[in-house]
Amino acid sequence: SPSDPDLVERARAAKEKLGDKVFVLGHHYQRDEVIQFADVTGDSFKLARDAAARPEAEYIVFCGVHFMAESADILTGDEQKVVLPDLAAGCSMADMATAEQVAECWDVLTEAGVAQATVPVSYMNSSADIKAFTGKHGGTICTSSNAKRALDWAFEQGEKVLFLPDQHLGRNTAVRDMGMSLDDCVLYNPHKPNGGLTPDELRAAKMILWRGHCSVHGRFSLDSVNDVRERIPGVNVLVHPECKHEVVAAADYVGSTEYIIKTLEAAPAGSKWAIGTELNLVRRLANRFADEGKEIVFLDKTVCFCSTMNRIDLPHLVWALESLAEGNLVNRIQVDRETESFAKLALERMLALP
Ligand code: 13P
Ligand code: SF4
Repeated sequence: SPSDPDLVERARAAKEKLGDKVFVLGHHYQRDEVIQFADVTGDSFKLARDAAARPEAEYIVFCGVHFMAESADILTGDEQKVVLPDLAAGCSMADMATAEQVAECWDVLTEAGVAQATVPVSYMNSSADIKAFTGKHGGTICTSSNAKRALDWAFEQGEKVLFLPDQHLGRNTAVRDMGMSLDDCVLYNPHKPNGGLTPDELRAAKMILWRGHCSVHGRFSLDSVNDVRERIPGVNVLVHPECKHEVVAAADYVGSTEYIIKTLEAAPAGSKWAIGTELNLVRRLANRFADEGKEIVFLDKTVCFCSTMNRIDLPHLVWALESLAEGNLVNRIQVDRETESFAKLALERMLALP
């Protein structure tokens, strides 16, 4: 959708006034009207790595969701201030694991006698508290682009993994990339006593999956895959690993948002693609590659934006940039020191993965 020219001009002017003092990061799911102002775009791994790339910038404006801004704050120095243009840009998946629930889970594992042998691996899409828990208990963070390497590392440290909070990324990586079976995985439900699991089930499991999911990627179904294959003969189905296991199992290619973009860049002219991820990104890719004769469609018939990613719109970005240009620090995301030190341990383990 075309952006309001007045707002575009105001964003441009505020950014120019700030100059090197501001560094704008944009996740691939952001709206076109926002992504045009990003100095760097990326998947959540690339953005975590790039957050510290401009130490001279006083402000990091994070166009993405809350857990990404927290991670940027953790990975940068105190002098750099991370700003999230709308504080309501959370992530429903990250909200599915609270610090209290995870502490309770660890007690359940301890009582079953398996905590010692368990290494927590937490998806980037989690609060700083969960990352701190992970760091404290010898675990690592992962993203959708390094989940296999994170699990390889974790199984060198221990016999079991507690995977938080996305059951699908955990299950898909274990089964698709690590050669485990579905029976090696159990689902820990934080709303049931003892997670709904017996001590024997916990002892037998290799992967203890937290019962969290992404509601955006959860919309894709096996029917979506079958329908599109019928509608478009020869189509390649490319999905994000946050999709359900049966969707991933039926797809041709699976990977992070950055992987999806790279795959389409390398695709030959005339090829056809159905993409199972957030719609802002799919639409942008469909437009970008139309001239090269690559046909790109959304995997499902209904639309699915990530509503919280979409909260960052041009009016919010303009407001944040103009406030900063006037010397008003707004919407700062700052993780407390104690949480930060343990969360950083877990994030640095991820950044050090081979
Ligand atoms: P990636 O950008 O790492 O693929 O993650 C997608 C996502 O859901 C971020 O919230
Ligand atoms: Fe969270 Fe899903 Fe939105 Fe990503 S797409 S930010 S996992 S709700």
